[in-house]
Amino acid sequence: MGTLALLHASQLVTLAGAKRPRIGKELSELGVIRDGGVLIRDGKIELVASSDEVERNLTALSSQVSGAPNQLEVVDLGGRVVAPGFVDAHTHLVFGGNRLDDFERRARGETYEQIAKAGRGIWSTVQKTRAATEQELFELAKKRVAWFLKCGTTTIEAKSGYGLTLEDELKILRVIRRLNDETPLEIVPTFLGAHAVPRDLSPDKYVDLVINEMLPRVAKEKLAEFCDVFCERNYFDVEQSRKILTAAKMLRLKLRGHVDQLSNFGGAKLMADLGAMTADHLERTDEQGIAALKSAKVQPVLLPGSVYALGLKEYPRAREMIEAGLPVVLATDFNPGSSPTPSMPMILSLACTQMKMSPAEAISAATINAAYSLGRGDRIGSLEVGKSANIAVFDCEDYREIAYWFGLPRTHSVYSVGERVL
Ligand code: NIG
Ligand code: FE
Repeated sequence: MGTLALLHASQLVTLAGAKRPRIGKELSELGVIRDGGVLIRDGKIELVASSDEVERNLTALSSQVSGAPNQLEVVDLGGRVVAPGFVDAHTHLVFGGNRLDDFERRARGETYEQIAKAGRGIWSTVQKTRAATEQELFELAKKRVAWFLKCGTTTIEAKSGYGLTLEDELKILRVIRRLNDETPLEIVPTFLGAHAVPRDLSPDKYVDLVINEMLPRVAKEKLAEFCDVFCERNYFDVEQSRKILTAAKMLRLKLRGHVDQLSNFGGAKLMADLGAMTADHLERTDEQGIAALKSAKVQPVLLPGSVYALGLKEYPRAREMIEAGLPVVLATDFNPGSSPTPSMPMILSLACTQMKMSPAEAISAATINAAYSLGRGDRIGSLEVGKSANIAVFDCEDYREIAYWFGLPRTHSVYSVGERVL
């Protein structure tokens, strides 16, 4: 590692601001520097300023390091937009197979729930994931890591949840750990043993297995930072979800949940009761749910990709949440069933067109707020001195273009901890 200077961004989107998740009008304040530059040393941001100022520092620096000129690299960004790498706070990265048949069935008019009842849905991915070896899952997921980087994402959260036995859940979490160690993408691991009830067990028996066998092993082997549940009719009800998350909390895991996705099921309130870090989905959450999240300081993670890909109409009420003062987060929900996209730019497009967020609000939700939701707001999510140099460069002149062009990400290059990875 050495020193790297990135110069001449048309707009350097810094997201500099309060050291906490952004709410209300703050979501629109991107801290843009025109003709901006960044100075990076040993993977950390050392200066964020106008290109002129960065260049002046560079001249001083190059006289110091003249004995080792290859330690100093200067990149002219040619008037492109520069922003923090996206932080995708909700993905299901590791799975076997695909769900092409479900996709085609939905195109013929069947619903997600009907398809699941017919024994397909999550269960079919569980069968494929169980049949795959750890190495095979690693190879599959490694390709997907490259897709995320191509979209400008430098950190993701990734869940287990397609194993549903002790060994298969551990297998997925070990793959996540290895991907975090061996690829440039930073991955935050989540245990989602309670994603569905396996065919051969009663719901209560499976809840016992999650609490008594899976959670203690996951915690002992430090394989997850978060515990998640799918709190929904035909999956885990509010009481079962509460039991699992309470057990996880005792093991010092942070909490999150898939809640109110298909029905207004009381999930947002449960996340508030338990002091979860996030409540994810929230398509059906009403005013009371929103108020509960607000009073318990739970961050909403909105996943418009799953509404779009399931062909549904009801997007989460982002405007009401912003007006209520909630620090909203946007994420892909990358998974084979309901949201097969790794693209944060596509999610920004959906946020603007379907949920009426502004491009600036969407960018804040996808970077700094997402970073705080993963407990990493002090280290990533903005371009500020001392933070990790996780940076996405877009072939655009105006940051609004990131959300405006859809169907292909405009990513030009990506840096993770100061190293160019795309
Ligand atoms: O976030 N809702 C539950 N889990 C995923 C879908 C998983 C799947 O269909 O494979 C979601 O939408
Ligand atoms: Fe999900």
